[in-house]
Amino acid sequence: MVLLALFASGSGSNAEQIARYFHQRDDVKIALILSNKADAPVHARAKRLGIPSVTFSKDAFDKGLEVLDILRQYQIDFIVLAGFLLKVSQPLLDAYPRRIINIHPALLPLYGGKGMYGDRVHRAVVEAGEKESGITIHYVNEHYDEGDIIFQARCELLPGDTPVEVARKVHELEYAHFPEVIDSLVKKLSN
Ligand code: GAR
Repeated sequence: MVLLALFASGSGSNAEQIARYFHQRDDVKIALILSNKADAPVHARAKRLGIPSVTFSKDAFDKGLEVLDILRQYQIDFIVLAGFLLKVSQPLLDAYPRRIINIHPALLPLYGGKGMYGDRVHRAVVEAGEKESGITIHYVNEHYDEGDIIFQARCELLPGDTPVEVARKVHELEYAHFPEVIDSLVKKLSN
């Protein structure tokens, strides 16, 4: 059994999709949801889904050890950042080499880096008059949004698309692809 942890800072709709996808699988389990925000809606989703969720402070996350202790306690094998906004610290990267992935709501290397997350990304894409956007799933390294790319999918943007509409199209791609990409990576781990 491969045990996964999901990190999310906000709504957690991707975390929920992933949890539903792996529900009742006998080879993969979403063992824990973690957030840096005690009031993030992802906690309510976790409760509804019957998955334990915990909160840590930014300071604890930056130091790494407290969060590592929690991950060890739950025997976590693989980490998925699903709408998580903090930079991952070195102790975690060292403990989970090529076992931490992130989803970014644009076609990296475009519209990535510090401060580029969620709706800010979609606003920048619209302001630049882009004709397409999409999603990037990538390994996490010590730089924001710079780890090796695992998967990308694109969506067409129409003149007049608002950031809200772009976010809708991007979320649709995320829900369609993210769980399956995780599944294929995790299968390689257990082989
Ligand atoms: C998602 O679109 C995800 O790609 C993005 O935040 C959103 C979270 O939505 N992540 C980033 O911007 C990371 N830089 P959700 O909480 O509903 O899953």
